Amino acid sequence: MRKERMKQASPASFEIVQRGAEAILYLRGKELVKERIKKGYRLPELDSKIRKQRTKGEAKLMERSRGSGVTVPSVRTEDEFKLVMEYVKGERIKDVLNGMAPKERTNVCGKMGEMIAKLHANGIIHGDLTTSNMILKGKEVYLIDFGLGKFSEKVEDQAVDLFLLYEALKSTHFRSLEECWKGILKAYGQNYPNTKEVLKRIEKIKKRRRYR
Ligand SMILES: Nc1ncnc2c1ncn2[C@@H]1O[C@H](COP(=O)(O)OP(=O)(O)O)[C@@H](O)[C@H]1O
Ligand SMILES: [Mg+2]
Repeated sequence: MRKERMKQASPASFEIVQRGAEAILYLRGKELVKERIKKGYRLPELDSKIRKQRTKGEAKLMERSRGSGVTVPSVRTEDEFKLVMEYVKGERIKDVLNGMAPKERTNVCGKMGEMIAKLHANGIIHGDLTTSNMILKGKEVYLIDFGLGKFSEKVEDQAVDLFLLYEALKSTHFRSLEECWKGILKAYGQNYPNTKEVLKRIEKIKKRRRYR
């Protein structure tokens, strides 16, 4: 108990990137540490189990994604609660997509589609595909935050994954929604053989929502 509290000591000397509900992220040299913090409302044993599982799970998903040819930061676990990764010095797609030149936006949306296709083709679901979880560095798009991800080959999971991105684009990038979505689907289709099934399922999901 005591030891654990010390291990979790606040990283006072490090620059904090984000203090989220579940994790605190801070810079340590060229590395970024994502440390899952204690939740007082959970029983301590369960709490540490969950934090361990999520840390390990996220690392695994990122490694597998990397192995599938998706651009993600390189990663390692340092202890059970700390995910240490390469710090990607760039800009969140969320902050830059709207102001981009059309040509650059086409490139970025194509990259998104290709990336998601590779994930799905390799049995990986990201779980939180939004433009906040993508970083643009030069011409490369890095995918981050696999905290809600899982391994699955189900069409339903893939459709939901992609549909979440559509919804995210709709709410933050409405003006380029149609253009970007088209670019995403084109690249997705070129890189994932099962695209037709996924698109059919997305239509079903949309209908389900409409009549709810
Ligand atoms: N490897 C990284 N390189 C640079 N910035 C990062 C990296 N990982 C996370 N960030 C920044 O920290 C923010 C929160 O990280 P994220 O993994 O999305 O945590 P959360 O689960 O709290 O959303 C991101 O939106 C991004 O701005
Ligand atoms: Mg995030």
